[in-house]
Amino acid sequence: MKDLIDIRDLTEAEIDELVCTAEDIIANPDKYAEVCKRKKIATLFYEPSTRTRLSFEAAMLELGGSVIGFSAAADSSAAKGESVADTAKTVECFADIIAMRHPKEGAPYVASKNVDIPVINAGDGGHNHPTQTLTDLLTIHREKGTFENLVVGCCGDLKFGRTVHSLISAMSRYAGVKFVLISPEELKVPENVKTEILDKNNIPYVETTSLEDAMPELDILYMTRVQRERFFNEADYVRLKDTYILTPEKLENAKKTLSILHPLPRVNEISVEIDKDPRAVYFKQVKNGKYIRMALIMKLLGIKA
Ligand code: NCD
Repeated sequence: MKDLIDIRDLTEAEIDELVCTAEDIIANPDKYAEVCKRKKIATLFYEPSTRTRLSFEAAMLELGGSVIGFSAAADSSAAKGESVADTAKTVECFADIIAMRHPKEGAPYVASKNVDIPVINAGDGGHNHPTQTLTDLLTIHREKGTFENLVVGCCGDLKFGRTVHSLISAMSRYAGVKFVLISPEELKVPENVKTEILDKNNIPYVETTSLEDAMPELDILYMTRVQRERFFNEADYVRLKDTYILTPEKLENAKKTLSILHPLPRVNEISVEIDKDPRAVYFKQVKNGKYIRMALIMKLLGIKA
């Protein structure tokens, strides 16, 4: 495997290996401090980002490597009309590995086909976000000790939320996983995710509009924001944006062992009062994102500690 474009580019065994490496990095950071000496990651971000870009950069720096890149399309030659393929071929002259985020579905794939260095999809439009899923998987593993026999509730914008699409794809490979898909009618999981992943693999799932009804059976609650930038009109966004707001009252019927995840950024969908609840793990999740990206960079560069 040269690139990570889709979470299914990794086998379950490779995911286990990345989780294991991330755990070792957490336990023994010094062992990894220079393994990527003289290596460079290029972060090519054509869309806004805080966590994903900074965690890739922090990951490479903590491995002893360095970072080049841009954080907005307007700061790159894309603003002059350069193609993704040409930009990638240029960056290949300077860097050892690329992490790319782009508003167009498939752009990181196009880049990967035009260069010999590894390309990581750091989010492509409303499609996929495999490294957020690795972050989510490490978090689930650290909180639950397993990926199996879990009821996973995904709540919010399941139509445009690329992190949800990749998470469903990843978690549906584990035994005994059931999904509860909680969204307004207009923001349901796309048909292709249902037919090509859930139905094809006989994964049990229910769709509902009620977070309250779903709450008691959930082991994981994966909250998401309504993806304003992917809406065709602002009025629809305004109407739907506050459909779900997680408050302490809504958690009254939840399991004591529930884990609440969110890829972040949060807008209104989780009240800040929830942050001090031990079941809220979304800031731990951010930290896990750096460790699993360290493990991924090493794997794609063929580096062992
Ligand atoms: C997510 C994304 O970019 O898809 N953010 C992230 O990478 N952690 C989620 C979002 O923007 O809502």
